[in-house]
Amino acid sequence: MTESREWKWEIVNESIWLAPCEESYFYCEKWKKSRKKSILDIGAGLGRHAILFAKNNFEVAAIDLSEFGINYLNAWKEQEQLSICTKVCDMKKIPFQDHFFDCIWAYHSISHTDSLGFSEILEEIERVLKPEGEIYLSLSSKDSGFYSKGGYPQVDENTIIKTDEGPEKGIPHYYVDLDDIFALFNNFKIESIRHVDDCYRNGEIYDNKHYFIYARLLQK
Ligand SMILES: C[S@@+](CC[C@H](N)C(=O)[O-])C[C@H]1O[C@@H](n2cnc3c(N)ncnc32)[C@H](O)[C@@H]1O
Repeated sequence: MTESREWKWEIVNESIWLAPCEESYFYCEKWKKSRKKSILDIGAGLGRHAILFAKNNFEVAAIDLSEFGINYLNAWKEQEQLSICTKVCDMKKIPFQDHFFDCIWAYHSISHTDSLGFSEILEEIERVLKPEGEIYLSLSSKDSGFYSKGGYPQVDENTIIKTDEGPEKGIPHYYVDLDDIFALFNNFKIESIRHVDDCYRNGEIYDNKHYFIYARLLQK
């Protein structure tokens, strides 16, 4: 299995990682209305979504392999006087007991692994989520140029290793298509899947596509 690798946040200089994404406001309201209480943010990065959820009175836990990211979030939450349980750890071993969370938020994070690693992460997600618990996550799409046009070292059918200079250098990226999603998420009731093309970024054509999945864990 490919080794887990954190993002090198210390070399990131993009303010997008500090403002919550659009959908996070939608799920914040949705989960408030359905009286969800606890949210786990997996691969929280600098903590932009954990902060938003905590400001909206959810009980929030945030995990990331990056010590830099978690230190940043700890300073941010102190400044905002918010309570967030933070842990530096690998999402392949989530340090919480079974059926602990009402919701899981995994935004641009759980694709940072290979096929075997992804199975482990999904098993952990199913373990810590309450039955009927809800998840919103993104996954890299096989239609992305990074995957389909090749050029990166491939470690299994779904996984390449990014080699460009930058925060993701050496990090595995796991790509899926719709068939993969249906096969992987068979313990979930999938409520919606969107396929989004980020075709332009920072003044340049960009060929990066993601699936965004909203699903509910089925009761066993
Ligand atoms: C693209 S960033 C997204 C950060 C955050 N979710 C956001 O939207 O701002 C991916 C994050 O996943 C973390 N990560 C990668 N592999 C991980 C692992 N095995 N366990 C925990 N975190 C991991 C990285 O360190 C990084 O902070």
